[in-house]
Amino acid sequence: MLRRCGLLLVALVMTVPSRADEGMWLPSLIGERIRDMRQKGFRLTAEDIYSVNRASMKDAIVLFGGGCTGELVSAEGLLLTNHHCGYRQIQQHSSVEHDYLTNGFWAMNRSEELPNPGLTVAFLVRMDDVTEAVLEGVAETMTPAERDTLIARNTARVIERATEGTHYTASVKPLYYGNQYFIYVTEVFPDVRLVAAPPSAIGKFGGDTDNWMWPRHTGDFSVFRIYAGKDNKPAPYSKENVPYRPKRHFTIATGGVEEGDFTMIYGFPGRTQQYVISDAVDFVLNRSNPLKIDLRTRRLRIFNEEQARDVRTRIQYAAKNASVANAWKKWQGESKGIARLGTIGKKQRQEAAFEAWAADKPRYRDVLPRLKKLYRELDENAFAVDCFNEGMAGIELPVFTGRIAPGTPVSVIRERAGKFYKDYSPAIDRRVAAELFTEYVKRLPARFLPDSLRREIDAAGGAAAYVASVMERSPFATAGGYEALKSDSAALMKALADDPAAALYRRARQGVVPAGREAKRLNAEITELYRTYMQGLREMSPEQDFYPDANLTLRVAYGHVAGYSPQDAVWHVPYTTLEGIMEKDTPEVYDYNVPQGLRDLHAAKDYGRWADRDGAVHVAFLATNHTTGGNSGSPILDRRGRLVGINFDRTWLSTMSDIEFDPSVCRNIAVDIRYVLFLIDRLGGAGYLIEEMTLEK
Ligand code: ARG
Ligand code: GLU
Repeated sequence: MLRRCGLLLVALVMTVPSRADEGMWLPSLIGERIRDMRQKGFRLTAEDIYSVNRASMKDAIVLFGGGCTGELVSAEGLLLTNHHCGYRQIQQHSSVEHDYLTNGFWAMNRSEELPNPGLTVAFLVRMDDVTEAVLEGVAETMTPAERDTLIARNTARVIERATEGTHYTASVKPLYYGNQYFIYVTEVFPDVRLVAAPPSAIGKFGGDTDNWMWPRHTGDFSVFRIYAGKDNKPAPYSKENVPYRPKRHFTIATGGVEEGDFTMIYGFPGRTQQYVISDAVDFVLNRSNPLKIDLRTRRLRIFNEEQARDVRTRIQYAAKNASVANAWKKWQGESKGIARLGTIGKKQRQEAAFEAWAADKPRYRDVLPRLKKLYRELDENAFAVDCFNEGMAGIELPVFTGRIAPGTPVSVIRERAGKFYKDYSPAIDRRVAAELFTEYVKRLPARFLPDSLRREIDAAGGAAAYVASVMERSPFATAGGYEALKSDSAALMKALADDPAAALYRRARQGVVPAGREAKRLNAEITELYRTYMQGLREMSPEQDFYPDANLTLRVAYGHVAGYSPQDAVWHVPYTTLEGIMEKDTPEVYDYNVPQGLRDLHAAKDYGRWADRDGAVHVAFLATNHTTGGNSGSPILDRRGRLVGINFDRTWLSTMSDIEFDPSVCRNIAVDIRYVLFLIDRLGGAGYLIEEMTLEK
């Protein structure tokens, strides 16, 4: 967008407000955006979105588990999120006799709802700007260490004061690299039960083939219920608990949305880096992503070949494959997007403008040169850490035994081993080891590989031969080997202490420890400088609407339903229908094998009140909301704040929006709420759940 026409002019051009639909805004400050939102179609007020004086939308939203969003849809604690967010719980309740992953799960009454130890949901009670209290006594002259200590002490006091005499928990998070601090007071409920989930062939329809893609036909939802003590307060699981009565739940709009309609997403985006300098983007595009993508391509090729060979392996590696493939695909889209947008060049021009502006300002003059120098020092260290995480740590056996700390109780080891061998293929791991360890040794900057290890590798005739012999000598290489050891605690502990695979993991890790330490130190310094850089950016462009990077706290994004053009001559319509599911139906392809129940429903064409005006059942739709990982399961709301869908993904070319948002192609993907209700009602026969909800035409 920015053209090189004299630095002064560039600086002027940079002051245009943030572009349409970009941004993840703070709920408590949404008043500053409300005019823009209303201009774009929103009908409600800032108080409807966030209020501490009365029930507002925020009271109907939870952080689900550690990294997803969920929303309340009934006065009795009923909650919606994604199938992939509830996946682990659904899997944990599944067995050969009750295969809920394959067949779906529909509780027919409250007594059939399934408890999930360890799963929590957290409501935001309130959020406040606590910058002043956190920075109390902090002086410009302090060293970073002094500053950190004081901030930590102040933070502890702020948290204590905010939670004193309550059952709430709180955390303080920095915004804009520590220019501002907010406290988030939360109420955490530990009794959350599984109510319903469609078969994976619906909840994960299209699998990794369609993941991050459009057109999309995934029914990515699951249903849970929050339980509380009789006093409606959080309580650990108990049969005596009762459904939680939320302050607020969402009304569901069954009329659907159309292209151009206002949409808003309210949820917990995890991490973005909108303000990093070109050097950081260069590292992602030219160093980190290519390495990580290549190492995962190799791993996935082996997974796929071995999974195709045998059914047991296919099931064992389904979840592993999905999680390796998810980020692998995302990074490719991100790289393509960054390259296509010319993000590095744009950032360089921005930096040139900043330098020109800062030339006569002592406070800002050195910031960019110092940042750039730190990034040069960071490069090898961060790259080495990536090598370890994606190379060495991609080999399962050394990770398993190498991460069991000496002194771990035998019962814990047995439990971990049980989980490990249930889904472990020695054949896959041997192949992965040969491939990844070879790449690890080849790509890791030489100084991070211990000399003794290098000599042994050379003596063995190379990395592949070396790692093969290590794995062969490990008594833990097969489930059988472990079984032979497990009943004798002393023998088990000795075998672990002597395990060559564990030794390899620890020695390799020891080699990269200095890289990790350096990277951590440099990143702390970099963050410090970004704090000043952000101040400068805001001073330089006072008209620009800044929003803080995502940090897994509650945010509002707003936009509208919209198609887009992914390439020349192609237009993507912003919604899909059940007809498209039938077009994809291919019984012999795992990802596209539509359940017979859904085929029957389609054949009967009896969609009732769940069909759109056009007669079809709409499945998913696209909108321009700025989202990222963590927004999975977030409610997507219409102009009246009514639930129209559940967010679950972005399109491939959108994934660079974590670094730069491009309104022309960035689209989030939501499952249409009417498809969710259609499935609950017609496929699950659980229409009684819909009775609990509040529906509106
Ligand atoms: N891409 C979505 C996200 O980042 C969905 C991932 C789950 N689905 C899958 N097919 N792996 O979480
Ligand atoms: N699927 C992602 C998640 O689980 C959301 C998609 C995105 O990254 O935008 O959070």
